[in-house]
Amino acid sequence: MERDLPIGIFDSGVGGLTVYRALHERLPNERFVYLGDTARVPYGTKSLTTVERYAVENARFLARHGTKLLVVACNTASALALPAVRRAVSIPVVGVIEPGARLAVARSRRRRIGVIATEATVRSRAYATTIAHLAPDAHVIERSCPLFVPLAEEGWADTTVARLVAEEYLEDLRDSGIDVLVLGCTHYPILRRTIQQAVGEGIKLIESGEAVAEEVAQLLEERSLSARVKRDERERRLGDDLDHFYVTDAAERFARVAERFLGQAPTVLEAVEI
Ligand code: DGL
Repeated sequence: MERDLPIGIFDSGVGGLTVYRALHERLPNERFVYLGDTARVPYGTKSLTTVERYAVENARFLARHGTKLLVVACNTASALALPAVRRAVSIPVVGVIEPGARLAVARSRRRRIGVIATEATVRSRAYATTIAHLAPDAHVIERSCPLFVPLAEEGWADTTVARLVAEEYLEDLRDSGIDVLVLGCTHYPILRRTIQQAVGEGIKLIESGEAVAEEVAQLLEERSLSARVKRDERERRLGDDLDHFYVTDAAERFARVAERFLGQAPTVLEAVEI
């Protein structure tokens, strides 16, 4: 039955595991199929046409795989390619921009919202446009922080180097009057502590993972797509054999970085051509 199928998640690489983690926690009865496009990462420096093409190929792979719903965990792909992905597959598609923007608007009192993301996401103005739609009086300041991605993957999130990079990127945001800052890239939650130190405790950091998980839970409920099997939360662990992981290259590296992100390497991990 359709409701017993897994949920598909894709990202340009390993960063989407932060979204997988949130989904796994919120929906312990569900199974997940994760695709990390490690052969073509990063998306954040690429053009609209290229990101659209990659995103559509990823979505088709997961749809062919038999998934009941698709989560575009990558902020860049969500910002640039959500309409193309929705046209390409017939299952419901959830991106990360709108849930993150909604959470930011709900948490901001001053209506001054910061967004940090990849160059492509910032260039697309996807967060600014979505926030303007939700709260026309809100002022949005966006910055790209490309070096955060390799720092997170290298396991350098809490190092002096990361702190210096964060200070350099975020110095002007700290004094810009924003009261919330959206971590608009899959990797940035890994650097949460460092980013918080750089902007100061007065600014609330927003991660879209939880909001995305909530939206997926609602959608499954509304469309009667929730898995019928009931699992005890304690039966599940991140990366267990109920969830399948695919990468387009360098599976060993993915396993190593995933271990850092999740606490353990995925049990079922396979390199595929899409
Ligand atoms: N997954 C990307 C994002 O969330 C970050 C890494 C990349 O540039 O591909 O925007």
